[in-house]
Amino acid sequence: AFNLKNRSLLTLRDYTPREIAFLLKLAADLKTAKYAGTEVPRLQGKDIALIFEKDSTRTRVGFEVAAYDQGARVTYLGPTGSHIGHKESVKDTARVLGRIYDAIEYRGFGQDIVVELARYSGVPVYNGLTKEFHPTQILADFLTMQEHVDKPLHQVSYVFVGDAANNMGDSLLIGGAKMGMDVRLCAPRECWPSQAIQDEAQALARETGARILISDDIDTAVKGVDFVYTDVWVSMGEPKEVWAERIRLLMPYQVNATMMARTGNPRVRFMHCLPAFHNTETTVGAEIEATYGISAMEVTEEVFESPASIVFDQAENRLHTIKAVLVATLGA
Ligand code: CP
Ligand code: NVA
Repeated sequence: AFNLKNRSLLTLRDYTPREIAFLLKLAADLKTAKYAGTEVPRLQGKDIALIFEKDSTRTRVGFEVAAYDQGARVTYLGPTGSHIGHKESVKDTARVLGRIYDAIEYRGFGQDIVVELARYSGVPVYNGLTKEFHPTQILADFLTMQEHVDKPLHQVSYVFVGDAANNMGDSLLIGGAKMGMDVRLCAPRECWPSQAIQDEAQALARETGARILISDDIDTAVKGVDFVYTDVWVSMGEPKEVWAERIRLLMPYQVNATMMARTGNPRVRFMHCLPAFHNTETTVGAEIEATYGISAMEVTEEVFESPASIVFDQAENRLHTIKAVLVATLGA
């Protein structure tokens, strides 16, 4: 019914709501098949280049295991060790990889880079996170939401709290607008998405029936939601200098037990794309504690470890949804 063969995934903009729904259904089917031991490999003989100019745990292992489960092979090109980004241009790299690979995943800096890779490689390009967008994460998040509430996606409500000007804020706003959902962003004005992204979401909402609210008022924004979602306050690639200001701006928006209670929904779930700063067990967490005297940032340890937290379901669903994208765009 849906032919997504040879399509890139640069942002969710590129896909219709029905195509996104198809990818989610395919992901659910692939997940069931993997659990049942009945998965059929449809990517045999395919080679996929995985470019990572920034660190990754979930996205990398998601692409690698999805490819292996389906019979494809991958080459990991990390932040060092290839010429990408310093000795060879994106345009030349795209043309080289396009001769050797069937598809390319890219994680790194500007959205312009994935656009250029797609333009010059001639093969499907998947955005594994840019400064602006993280579309494969949103597919995993929507699959996870579907697994946790018994209603269609267009009736689901979620609020993204915190740094809504980052790739997750942008992507959750556009993705939810596309799927006709009740989407809220809750952040101080300094951390709202650009006006262009807001306008784009509003235009999508007029087509899909999505309800969009962007507010700095916590009680209005979190009222009655099914899901509270947050992300780090400082994203990869941002300088250390922004930490102090973000902590000052965003501490009132920390997801803690009080914020969860303010939703008024006793069954509200907590979501996070991860990694999260919820304690001081990491080197970065310890440094933040030493410098700013706080032991958690965007979410408290209490909420992160609570039964409401579905963050590891999201993490697992990265595999199944990335696999769906690969199978739909490259599969035999
Ligand atoms: N959520 C996510 O993209 O995680 P990684 O940075 O570990 O890939
Ligand atoms: N906003 C985060 C997301 C990580 C998955 C970042 O870009 O670092």
